[in-house]
Amino acid sequence: MQVATTIPSARQLVEQAREDGRRIGLVPTMGALHRGHVALVEECRRLADFTAVSIFVNPAQFGPGEDYDRYPRMLEEDLRKCEAAGVDLVFKPSAEEMYPRGVPKATFVEVPGLSHVLEGEIRPTHFRGVATVVLALFEIIRPDVAVFGQKDYQQQALIRRMVEDLHMPVEVVSHQTVRESDGLALSSRNAYLDAEQRRGSVALYKALEAACKAVAGGESDADRVRQILRSPIESEVGATLDYAEVVDAETLESLERIEPGRASVALLAARFGKTRLIDNARLTE
Ligand code: PAF
Repeated sequence: MQVATTIPSARQLVEQAREDGRRIGLVPTMGALHRGHVALVEECRRLADFTAVSIFVNPAQFGPGEDYDRYPRMLEEDLRKCEAAGVDLVFKPSAEEMYPRGVPKATFVEVPGLSHVLEGEIRPTHFRGVATVVLALFEIIRPDVAVFGQKDYQQQALIRRMVEDLHMPVEVVSHQTVRESDGLALSSRNAYLDAEQRRGSVALYKALEAACKAVAGGESDADRVRQILRSPIESEVGATLDYAEVVDAETLESLERIEPGRASVALLAARFGKTRLIDNARLTE
């Protein structure tokens, strides 16, 4: 496994692999790698012959007062995990390498519509930071395929839209959410939870399970499903619900009815102390 910290060295290593006829895969991450990331790497290795992982805590996607400074950083451990998972290249740039003019003066890409709903309403500059860094990573690595986690549902929908709108020659693959045995979706932010919050956080999964069950049993009124989603979280002491939504799986438009033949998804965000967790589940395909 090779580690590149500059853009020219990453480009050179990827170009060499491409010249050797290898299909290039990319798993963009912010580090603090867990089993969920390893599953993304495994999926990428199935789809490509050369797997690059980027590790970059992207300042542009954190708003003022968010957890940029305290976001977990554990490079040595991450590198060990990447090596064990069979990664070919780790790209670990500095903030100066990615944003030479600094974030305030950076050029940004916006994905209208999808950026300002749900997570985007609460974190207004988050998705332009995500879209911008992913676009830059795609330009640097030029992957044939890139793998993202389903847990960040809105993020992967937005990246798909950006790739489509900008005619980028990369296949975007979403990989199913990896969960703890009690259902909590794996996230680097789970590390912030104390024991009580960790116990309470399973309410997210319970809410999604109840919603899926209701829809499978014939419930089609989206407002009733929203209520089913809200209930386990609102009754959890110490949890604050940010949103419980039922939306079109592609456009993320809020739905009135859940119909077979129109893909829909339930999306949740809640805070446990200072820690915000998100999760989602497909309701119909
Ligand atoms: O999902 C993440 O870890 C980040 O948002 C991403 C896609 C690596 C961009 O910084």
